[in-house]
Amino acid sequence: MNTVNIPDGFLLGVATSAYQIEGAHDRGGRGPSVWDTFTQTPGRVQGNIPGNRGAEHYDRLEEDLDIMKDLGIESYRLSLSWSRLIPDGVGEVNAEGANFYNRLIDGLLARGITPNVTLYHWDLPQKLQDLGGWANRDVIEWFATYARTAFDLFGDRVPLWSTLNEPISLWMGYGVGFFAPGLRDPRQGKQAMHNAMVAHGRAVQEFRASGATGQIGIVIDVWKRHVVAETAENHALANRDEDDTFRFFYDELFAGGLSERIQTRLKAEGTLPDIHAGDAEVSAEPIDFLGLNVYGRLMIDSTNYKANPFEGTEQLPGGNYLSNGMELYPDVLMDALHVIRDEYGVTVPVYVTENGTPADGQLADGVVEDDERIRYVGAFLQKSVEAYEAGLGVKGYYLWTLMDNYEWAAGYSMRYGIVRTDPETFERSYKKSGHWYKAVNQNRSFTPVG
Ligand code: NOJ
Repeated sequence: MNTVNIPDGFLLGVATSAYQIEGAHDRGGRGPSVWDTFTQTPGRVQGNIPGNRGAEHYDRLEEDLDIMKDLGIESYRLSLSWSRLIPDGVGEVNAEGANFYNRLIDGLLARGITPNVTLYHWDLPQKLQDLGGWANRDVIEWFATYARTAFDLFGDRVPLWSTLNEPISLWMGYGVGFFAPGLRDPRQGKQAMHNAMVAHGRAVQEFRASGATGQIGIVIDVWKRHVVAETAENHALANRDEDDTFRFFYDELFAGGLSERIQTRLKAEGTLPDIHAGDAEVSAEPIDFLGLNVYGRLMIDSTNYKANPFEGTEQLPGGNYLSNGMELYPDVLMDALHVIRDEYGVTVPVYVTENGTPADGQLADGVVEDDERIRYVGAFLQKSVEAYEAGLGVKGYYLWTLMDNYEWAAGYSMRYGIVRTDPETFERSYKKSGHWYKAVNQNRSFTPVG
């Protein structure tokens, strides 16, 4: 296999999110979030273990910063916990929370690492959920005000910002109940998705008004649908799934609002959100870059259709499957770029803001031998570099994730880290992939595993 050289100017990093790693859920002045409530409710998450401890990053901040420095990464994608910064969601800023993020951001900069900050990675303050959360239109201004607070506090030092991470999580939370807040109301689910896009646009406006010097974007995940067989039924389902996921958001961001096709169907289903005059303009507020979370494709088979793709998807005979059942299909990056560049005509740079797999091998002499993760990440990184070189504007790659952490409704059962965390003590140790990624960062080149 040929060596892959990582071009100058192509950003390499790792990504995490606040709720998944911070812990200290009731310390440092933090208010509760919907994920505290959800994971503390029996029956909601695998193993019934709440996410209270995350990966104890709040208490191990310096150690984690040193690990990142040692890995040699250029950029770290993190998220702010809204309820750590503003415990009630609106109102008073929690000085201890602001101080924690100041230490984090300053600690990154002191180590030469570029912070890339996401405002919202799913942990809505519980106080706001009590008022209806993302399904209540007031969330647009709650979010804009929170965003402005963050820009005013940290905007002088953070060059890359994202408003929302994977807003499809709102469907999971309000529409089908797999995520916090656990509601099963399709109408509210679509309303939450729409409100989030308007809130995003308002946050971008606040960013421009704040005078912050960095760039701002949004992170959308694309699970391109492929059909197991060329039938009209399969294609219809594939299109519908795409309309219900990434196209919903791209339409609002880049096409002046939801397509007629989407609106007509949602109307017929009784789930068309309440859209106010002027919303389309706000959601379409120009952004500086697009974040793309990319993990794989989903196979559509109308004879065995699963409304929740996470219940498993069809496996194709001869497909390149990892032992965790996940398909290694790096061409999905090209599929996603095709949608972005050709269908929507988007020209801003794209960052792969997440990619990774929970494939751990055996623990040998204290080191997790996660060769499949190395193969998977290497294949996607190679594809990202190819896309950069082909002029498709992919400007960087963030590996998901730095350390084993709390994987939402899967609890601690899915371990995505390149650094292992001990299930009891949260002590950190490099996996084989951690050593590998360090070498990739040091050498700015690697040889993909076949
Ligand atoms: C999507 C989410 O943004 C992140 O929080 C999650 O842990 C990973 N992908 C893996 O599922």
